[in-house]
This record gives sequence, C-alpha cells and structure tokens, in this order.
Amino acid sequence: MCGIIGITSLTDKNLAQITVSCLEKLEYRGYDSVGVASLQGSILEVRKAKGTVKEVVQKKNILSMRGNVFLGHTRWATHGPPSDYNAHPHTDCSNSIAVIHNGTLKNFKELKESLIALGHIFRSETDTEVIPHLIEEYRKKGFDTFTAFKKAVLDLEGSYAILAIVKGENRIYFAKKDNPLVIGMGEGTNFVASDIPAFLDYTKKVVIINDGELGYVTPTSIYIEDLRGNVIDVTKRIRIIDWDAQAASKEGYPHFMLKEIHESARAINDTINGLLSETELVEEITERLKGSDRIIVIAAGTSYHAGLYFTILLNRLGYTALPVIASEYYNINAKRGDSVIAISQSGETIDVLMGIRKMKEKGATIISITNVIDSAISRESDYKLYMRAGPEIGVAATKTFSSQLAVLLFLYAYLAKIDYKELLSAPEVIKNSISLGEGIAKKVGEELALQKSVYYLGRGLSLPLAMEGALKIKEIAYVHAEAYPAGESKHGPIALVEKGYPVVFINDGELTDLLENNLHEMKARGAKTYAISVNKRLGAETEILIKVDKDILSPFAISPIIQLIAYYASTAKSLDPDRPRNLAKTVTVE
Ligand code: AGP
Repeated sequence: MCGIIGITSLTDKNLAQITVSCLEKLEYRGYDSVGVASLQGSILEVRKAKGTVKEVVQKKNILSMRGNVFLGHTRWATHGPPSDYNAHPHTDCSNSIAVIHNGTLKNFKELKESLIALGHIFRSETDTEVIPHLIEEYRKKGFDTFTAFKKAVLDLEGSYAILAIVKGENRIYFAKKDNPLVIGMGEGTNFVASDIPAFLDYTKKVVIINDGELGYVTPTSIYIEDLRGNVIDVTKRIRIIDWDAQAASKEGYPHFMLKEIHESARAINDTINGLLSETELVEEITERLKGSDRIIVIAAGTSYHAGLYFTILLNRLGYTALPVIASEYYNINAKRGDSVIAISQSGETIDVLMGIRKMKEKGATIISITNVIDSAISRESDYKLYMRAGPEIGVAATKTFSSQLAVLLFLYAYLAKIDYKELLSAPEVIKNSISLGEGIAKKVGEELALQKSVYYLGRGLSLPLAMEGALKIKEIAYVHAEAYPAGESKHGPIALVEKGYPVVFINDGELTDLLENNLHEMKARGAKTYAISVNKRLGAETEILIKVDKDILSPFAISPIIQLIAYYASTAKSLDPDRPRNLAKTVTVE
C-alpha cells in the first residue's frame, strides 16, 4: 500500500509536473493523503495534506515547487489516521532530511521512545517518522549520509520501501524489504518508484531492486549494495519493459476499470501467446504437478477465486488440491512432495509471500502465476508463469482475473489431456460476451445499486465465479453481497429472502437442472431473480445468455459480465470504481 516516487535530475525543468504525473499513476496504491518534497541545493521544502492527488496539488500549489530532486507519496494509512500531519514526507528535527515510506515498521515504538529520550521532536503518529530522526542521529555521530542511512535501515524491523533525500545532495537514498521498489533510468534523470507504470511515460529502462538491497541514485548513476555490503553490478540488472505508456492511460474510457474489462480479450490473447512460447516450461510444471502428493493453491481476493476454480478442476481429475486463502497460510502444514501454486496479479501480496516462504521452508515446490514481472512472489518461486495482461490500474481486478483463468485452464488442459487449442477462442468469447451482455449488465448494475444486499448463487465451477461477482459489487459499489453454493442457500441464507430480494444466479450450463430448483425456491419467496447463463437458459426474470462451443470457455463468457454489473452499479451511485474507499490495489501489510 502507498505509492512512492523519487526523481533526481540534472535540470529542475518541469520536475514538479513530472512528479505529479507519476503520483497520479500511483494513486491506486493509496489515496488518503499526498505529499511532495523538493530539494534545490540547500533548500528543502515539504508540502503535504489529506486528500487526493488532484486536491492536494491544487490546495498546496505543488506545481510551483522547484528543485532538482523530488519525492512524492500517496498514502494508505496504517499507523495514524489520514491527516495533514500524518501525510508523508516526514522530516528530521532540523528539516534537513525528508523521507517517504511504504510498509510497516514493527519496532517503531521502541525506536521512537529512544529517539525522544535523545531529544528528538516528533510531529506525527506514523511509524515512518522514526527514519529521518534515525538518519539525523547517525549523522550527528559523525557518519557520512550513506552510512547513516544504512545504519538507520539496519535498525528497522518490518517491511519497507524507503526513499530519503538530504539538503545539499542531489541524490535519492533507497532501501527495500518486502515492499516493491524499481528504478527507472532516463537521460540525465533517474526515477525510483513503487512500480513501473509510475514512470513509464519517461523511460522503459528499469532496474528491479531486490529485498535487502539499498543504495542511491543520482541523475546519471545508480549505486546498489546488499545488506552485507556487496556491490551489485547494475548493468546486469537493466531490463527494457515492453508495456507502452498508453496501456497505463484511460484511452478515452471514463475509468480504468471499464477500459480494463474491455481489454480482457487482448489480455488473454497475450496470456495464451505467452504460454505457447514456453510450452516446455508448462510441460515441466505439469509433470511436477502430476508427481505431487498435494497441490496447494494460495492466493487472496480475486486471485483466490481463480485458484478455487482451478482446485475444483484438479479435484475432479483425481488430484488432491487444497485452496488456501493467503491470510490463513499458517494453518497449512506443507511438506516435501507438495506443490504450491501462488496466484497474484501484483506478485507483492504480503500474505501470499509469507505463505510461500513458510511452505518453501518445509520443502514444497513453489510455482507462481503473476502479472508483474520480477515481482517478489515470482522471484521467490521455483517456477514462474506470467499472465502478461499488461498493467492493471483499477483497484478491482478485471482483465487479470480472466488472464489468471487462462493460465490455469492452460495447465488444466495439459493435465486433463484436452487440446489446449480449445482455449484459443477465449478472446473471441470475451468480446462476444461484452458486446451481447454490456447493455443488460448496465441495467442489472443500476438495479442492484439501489439494493442493500444481494445473493450470488452458483454450483460447481459457477461457485467461484459467483464469489467473484459478489466481491466485485461489494468492493466498488458498496452493496453488501454474499455468494453461496446454491444448494446450501436452503440451510440458512434463504431466511433473508422476501419480496424483491435480489438473487443473481451464475449458471455455466453444467448444473442447470439443479440450479433451476434453487431458482424456483427463490422465486416462490418473492426474490427478484437474475441469471448469467452459458448455453442453457435458467428462466430468471432477467437473464443474459451467452453461447460457447467448448465447456472450457464458459468462465470467459461470465467473467466480463459480473465485472460490468459491478462497474455500472458503482457508477449508478456516482462512485469512483477505480478508487474504492479503504482499499488499495496491492496489499503489502499483513
Ligand atoms: C480484486 O478486485 C481486489 N481488489 C483484491 O481482492 C485483489 O484481488 C487481492 O488483493 C489480491 O491481489 P493480488 O492478485 O495482487 O495478489
């Protein structure tokens, strides 16, 4: 959570403007307060406030700031509520050092107490503020800035991506542990940020920073060392990213979410082509899965629903497959012989990371499916598969859900000895589903927006899709939604159903007869029924029916529709679907 950007340049031209444009790209990571620090020679200035990037830029006249070095931060509060004084950057007592941070520091209370005892004055409730004071303290003891920075970092326990600047120095110090940090290399201007899309308008040349590394960037150089002091050869780390800046802009759509739903066909086309280019790896992975005692699938949120879909298929094939909600990882006793499939769009979700670390220690083999190249989760895996869906900016996962399903169904096709070419028409199915279903999805979304609560019911493979539908409308339209196995609804949930209570059925065509019984039970109690059906009509009052010619393609017909329903429910309430309250795209705190 929290987005951070640092820019150091030979010139001060447009740097405030560039910082703001980077912050706009990072805002999906947190948006309760914003701050910027500028540094020109010995003039260090900090402007910050509660609010969105747009509000704070205007309120604090950020564009009038001048300097060769800039830091920008957009916050998702952990320690201390959103407020002007808790906004980053934080400074030391003499306002000579400014720091921004993404992560949480477990030992900040002890550090703060000892710093206060030494006479330091704190001005916020954040954990971050200990960092500038620690650097100040070590500098007071006579250490040069880099040594003082390193010593401060060694004092920290917890997770962090930190950027620090110091009066009189045209450089940005950085350190990383468990939270993402990437360097962007420009011409006479270098960037350090939470993610690549932040600076994609300015450079595609990147260096990924690994856990435990720290260093500094100047406008023309990069210095990285690990915590043992070994110097890293940066030239070996440089990568050129093939995402274009356009992919990270709205391209005329009112919201990223809508653009990204419409991009799903292109995304899974790239996913499938990527997999076709690495069939040897896919074969190696499926051989490994075949020889596993158990297949543990670990993920959070939307990625968990994709994982659940896969485990149902695996269990049906005769494998012992276990879906694990990442934040409950400590309940699982993995062992040698188990394979773990970790699914994560960001590749940074801390619970997934902690889960795979624990299971790896126990001897399990880790296979990751992520979208962000070289993310922490992929780096710590034995086998890595990528979704190649391109950057996803909307907080709600949309095109990456379809891409995750594409990767998982590709693996399934290998395991089930189904011709994987059946998946090649998945992009067409998505396009067709959107063009047939978007109008009705809008009407359904607008109706559901008026409701307090809604059930999403499914059976078999439709259940994870029902769960995803419920999560989507909950997270971006703030409509309470609960997903249930349709048969189980008689064991409690049906008690809530009365005249007009909305029930959405997800009917992938496999268990339509059984679902029909459940539909009648709901109708008999006055429920207002909706259905998203594949191939077989269910008989709901409002129904979207999409035809596919292969069973394996049915989730691609359903996924864009559940997303569009949530999108239109959100916009019907005049909410911003890209920035749902209290949420952040990447959850990097446990
Ligand atoms: C999806 O719409 C949610 N915002 C959220 O549940 C998300 O899927 C979850 O946080 C997992 O993220 P990851 O795929 O990056 O690990």
